[in-house]
Amino acid sequence: MSITTPLFEHHKHCDEIFADAEAACGSGDWTAGEKAFSLLRDQLETHFGSEEELLFPAFETATGMTSGPTEVMRGEHRQMRDLLVQMQGALTARDSDAFGGAAETLLILMQQHNMKEENILYPMCDNALGSSDVGATLAERLKLS
Ligand SMILES: [Fe+2]
Ligand SMILES: [Fe+2]
Repeated sequence: MSITTPLFEHHKHCDEIFADAEAACGSGDWTAGEKAFSLLRDQLETHFGSEEELLFPAFETATGMTSGPTEVMRGEHRQMRDLLVQMQGALTARDSDAFGGAAETLLILMQQHNMKEENILYPMCDNALGSSDVGATLAERLKLS
């Protein structure tokens, strides 16, 4: 198992919760929507936090690259957090059109972001951090229940 395997798996986990939240809110099932969306926010925040607090600093320390791909990824996390705030607002207002619009933008952004991480940044991290214990900490923090 490589260091970033838990992050790969957690991307898939978040995709599934995202689909649940979108389906529920799109059909006006706000009770299920609230539940799925709050889980989505929680899981995405755990994921972004694991990257920002553990993986990225370890990569930056190992390579000296502080203004490269990790900085771009942090910026995209900010954009995704903004969209989650918009989605929360739409959910509170029971506005399925607004929710769907923000959700569509988030989905595209998230897919592009995850693809960049999975194809470029995570392999770079695996190379740079081959023997560090960051992987075990990530696995613990992102343990799927
Ligand atoms: Fe990320
Ligand atoms: Fe990620």
